[in-house]
Amino acid sequence: MKAVIPAAGLGTRFLPASKNLPKELMPVFNKPVLQYVVEEALAPEGVDEVIVVNSHAKPQIEAYFEKDEALVAHLHAKGKNGLAALVEEASDLPVSFCYQDEALGLGHAVLQAKQQVGIDAFFVLLGDYFVPNKQMCKDMAAVSKAHGGASVIAVAPCPPADVSRYGIIGGEVVGSLTGEYKDDNNPGCVLKVNELVEKPSSDAAPSNLFIVGRYLLDPFIMELLETQETGAGGEIQLTDAMVRLLETHEMYALVVDPTSGCDAGTPETLAASSVRMVLEHPELVDGFFEALGTDSLTK
Ligand code: G1P
Repeated sequence: MKAVIPAAGLGTRFLPASKNLPKELMPVFNKPVLQYVVEEALAPEGVDEVIVVNSHAKPQIEAYFEKDEALVAHLHAKGKNGLAALVEEASDLPVSFCYQDEALGLGHAVLQAKQQVGIDAFFVLLGDYFVPNKQMCKDMAAVSKAHGGASVIAVAPCPPADVSRYGIIGGEVVGSLTGEYKDDNNPGCVLKVNELVEKPSSDAAPSNLFIVGRYLLDPFIMELLETQETGAGGEIQLTDAMVRLLETHEMYALVVDPTSGCDAGTPETLAASSVRMVLEHPELVDGFFEALGTDSLTK
């Protein structure tokens, strides 16, 4: 089973830094955001490969996941075995690439991975958000299993004024992650989706539950994407193809706690997420100092 991470965007929100450094490689402490998302994508049982949809304008992303034997040998020669291990962790990840060289939308980006995804259900993880405990996709897989392998999307409530920024779902509560019936929109609640709208006005929104950027999709979505016309923003929208998927396939939504993830979509949220990771995950900092062979960056 594969996971797809769209990463072909220009990263204009991160200019000027993103002029030469793809925003996906910007660090949260000492590790690129994209590596957190790749590791999250590999957490659910059965996911054996991550397909990053890149653009040819950002070869640095491939380079990051490639082996660098000279660097590793240099670090070993200096006795920096811990750092060598950190470098090798990234190149050992099962990541492959496909390309989207025109900004035609999220649906178009996902379609580029059609060959590599094959005939199985697959995850899509949007890369401007990562979930440190890696639980969200695992929970989505459990909901899918409980509903015969159906597609599942993660959703969360947003202020009504924000609905026009997202994909919004409508649905009926059918249960919860733990099995017991829960007629509310709190985390763990499971809805059967009957409506999806990309960036609706607040009058047209079926609810205030927005798609947070984690999808487990039936592979039939790829066929639908091949004939998907442009929608909101003049782009080929994944949400619009999912509306058509609903005609023939069941789809469920799992309400998640959006604060279980860290936003890395803008310079402010990336900075805040970096601070949050350092404060909430001291093992990240300790592990780095251990690899560096010191107990502080000033030595
Ligand atoms: C995309 C999706 C949207 C989703 C959002 C989450 O929109 O199209 O349905 O709610 O991501 O971040 P974008 O942010 O690319 O406009």
